[in-house]
Amino acid sequence: MTVMTAQASTRAPSINTGWVRYLWRMAMLLVLVVFSLGVSQVAVAQADPEREMITAAPGISADQWRQVRSGDTSSNYRDSRHDSNYSLINASGETWRILRNRWVSPFGLIAVFGMASLIALFYLIVGRKELEAPRTGKKILRWPLLMRSLHWSMATLFIVLALTGMNLLYGKFIFRPLFGDAIWGAMISASKVSHNYLGPLFAILLIIMLVSVVKKNIPRKHDLEWLKQAGGLLKKGQHPDAGFSNAGEKVWFWLLATVGLALVISGFVLDFPNWGQSRDTMQWANIIHAVCGLGLTAVSLGHIYIGTLGMEGSIEGMTTGYVDETWAKEHHSLWYEEVKDQAITEEEVAARKAGDGHSEPSATRTS
Ligand code: HEM
Repeated sequence: MTVMTAQASTRAPSINTGWVRYLWRMAMLLVLVVFSLGVSQVAVAQADPEREMITAAPGISADQWRQVRSGDTSSNYRDSRHDSNYSLINASGETWRILRNRWVSPFGLIAVFGMASLIALFYLIVGRKELEAPRTGKKILRWPLLMRSLHWSMATLFIVLALTGMNLLYGKFIFRPLFGDAIWGAMISASKVSHNYLGPLFAILLIIMLVSVVKKNIPRKHDLEWLKQAGGLLKKGQHPDAGFSNAGEKVWFWLLATVGLALVISGFVLDFPNWGQSRDTMQWANIIHAVCGLGLTAVSLGHIYIGTLGMEGSIEGMTTGYVDETWAKEHHSLWYEEVKDQAITEEEVAARKAGDGHSEPSATRTS
């Protein structure tokens, strides 16, 4: 009790720092509002597929559309490949174009930037979830080296794929007017090549990661209580029970296991058109791929926030491999009960890492 009071008093901000923090938060809020307004302008401008159509295919008249919709597959509109009788200008292609440009593209942008704004707002209003009890200084192994390497390789690939994918969808509205055709041409071609080649690599790492942690992510009864209390993020002193993975992490896991797999499967369909799939299949794969990719990018911002700014101590597990006993007790109480006898001092951690006869175990003993 005495320790807690002493800690609280050292943490209390002086009037000056309180005001600085308040002004800083308000300034950030203002930047956020201005930025969101800018993004929504781009999104609204994008939602006009007719404008793009005028530049993309200026010569198609209303009469020609009537002919195409009535089922005309005359040689005027036909795919010129020797074994193809596919009409290049067709109603399903138009449906795909409208779906992509009027719905997926603007709403994807709103989802990603809306999520970023919500997280920023949450941080400014609620702030970081600090550890409430003092650290004990004793450490528990949470993520062995192999899992850390897997996580960071997969995360890096995901971020590169998200950025290149968004460049494929939105880049022309921002970078083309900004840098001109020559630089834009190089940018879009680099984005396309890296997106196409890194996608399958990400798919392999994703599957290995999913298989490695599936057992820790089976839903349990206590997860409902965790969700009801929003993981204790909103209230000081609230620490709902959690095993190795809490309910928030489980939701992220199952999103990756469903939406993530749909993302990589549709990516394969797009990456290998030589498998003989029809153009209609490619169009649907494109819509599924974009929806899943943009949706996961939006949710990943929440994961990245909690892993870095949002919660004191989380990132230590994924960088050093070890977490403080206090972090384990406050955020993963049920897991802590299972592994508390494995806690070691910082010197022992350093000795393990230096390889002094005690190498790092490949996993903690957990259920
Ligand atoms: C810079 C970006 C990222 C940061 C800072 C980050 C941070 C973290 C941290 C700190 C943990 C451990 C949480 C704990 O110990 O309870 C974790 C776990 C995990 N992360 Fe990330 N992450 C990032 C990106 C990603 C991405 C892009 C993905 C997926 C594509 C991903 C997938 C996962 C998975 C599957 C886990 C294991 C969760 C579980 O099942 O227990 N992370 N991340």
